[in-house]
Amino acid sequence: MKEIKLLDAIRTRRSVRRFQQDKALSSEQVGVLMEAALRAPSSRDGHTTQFVLVEDKEQLQALSHLRESGGTFLRDVPLAVVVLGSPMECKFWQTDASLSAGYLQLQATEMGLASCWVQVADCFTANGQDSAEYVRNLLDIPYQLEVLCIIALGYPEGESPERSLEELRWEQIHIGKYQVAETQEESNE
Ligand SMILES: Cc1cc2nc3c(=O)[nH]c(=O)nc-3n(C[C@H](O)[C@H](O)[C@H](O)COP(=O)(O)O)c2cc1C
Repeated sequence: MKEIKLLDAIRTRRSVRRFQQDKALSSEQVGVLMEAALRAPSSRDGHTTQFVLVEDKEQLQALSHLRESGGTFLRDVPLAVVVLGSPMECKFWQTDASLSAGYLQLQATEMGLASCWVQVADCFTANGQDSAEYVRNLLDIPYQLEVLCIIALGYPEGESPERSLEELRWEQIHIGKYQVAETQEESNE
């Protein structure tokens, strides 16, 4: 396994939507990825987030129709991790589930894998069905659980460049109190 430190993983993680078709993930890799997801912090230490792992080609093909666009590449991913929250058990289910998904994505980068988030909650299929409902029916997800997103995982096809430090929106960081950023013209005055 490739050794990358956390900040390197944070720096090099990019959303990847094309994956090598001949390289599946090993069960050991999947185990480590899911360990990272399960270790994410959770509200009141509740750990109510659940996951459905999908590798079956027909299921992936069906999942790729969960949105009008934005999820079509799911048909060709080696592994899709469907991230579920439990609104009846946890008020902050979306936050908890998002943290798990983020941990999963960073761990994937750390292992030389790539990933992409596909949003499900509050989205619709091409014929107007609620995307979460579509996924629920497809994967037998019980009514108590909600679908937040799907994390696509695999070995990347091609390279995705790291964003430079200059591209980051440093002006969105405010020290001490909120300060409206000066425009270029104002700073020239
Ligand atoms: C909440 C959220 C929803 C997203 N939904 C989708 C999606 O449905 N389909 C997709 O291809 N990418 C999706 N993405 C990935 C973003 O498009 C991507 O993170 C963004 O363009 C920045 O690119 P980067 O991840 O390479 O830095 C989503 C990301 C987040 C955080």
